[in-house]
Amino acid sequence: MKKIAVLASGEGTNLEAILEAAERGRISAQVVLVISDRKKAPALERARRRGIEPLHLDPRPYRGREEYDQALLAVLRRAGIDLVVLAGFMRLLSPVLVQAFPGRIMNIHPALLPAFPGTSGVEEALNYGVKVTGCTVHFVDEGLDTGPIILQETVPVLQDDTVKTLHMRIQAVEHRLYPRAIELFCQDQLRVEGRRCFIESR
Ligand code: GRF
Repeated sequence: MKKIAVLASGEGTNLEAILEAAERGRISAQVVLVISDRKKAPALERARRRGIEPLHLDPRPYRGREEYDQALLAVLRRAGIDLVVLAGFMRLLSPVLVQAFPGRIMNIHPALLPAFPGTSGVEEALNYGVKVTGCTVHFVDEGLDTGPIILQETVPVLQDDTVKTLHMRIQAVEHRLYPRAIELFCQDQLRVEGRRCFIESR
């Protein structure tokens, strides 16, 4: 069984969806680590409620991104992690970490990449006036939301949407899409060639 680490900085609703999917056997992997850079992240409490003692790895004692990522890497290696899942982790990973886990780090983004990358994807899509947005699960490379796309799904933008209502509907889709992408990885069904990620049938 593959071993997964989930990294989360915030609310943790995606973390919750992943933990639930694992509990129900919809993901054939074990979530062995939940790590947050923020002590007060509600994600930590969600992990505890599902029987996982999370790790708060505080960035403050480290002298920058790379040093912090070295510490993170040591924890991931010690636990024998196969897949790193970023679920609202608000830090850009340094090459040190990305290169240590090539094709083995995933992220979820609340827009249809390559449109609206970065931390305000929902707001920028809404302000731009798009009629359709959505979410993207992708592998992580050294850029900002630039890695090969694994799965995408659309969400229509409604006339009376606010950032909050739109984000909520996108997240409902995320909670379905992310466990599916993780399971494809666990079943060795993902093959990346250049920018393209192919899903192979079993
Ligand atoms: C999600 O909408 C995800 O797309 C983005 O950050 C948000 C995290 O939400 N990367 P949560 O912490 O999983 O509730």
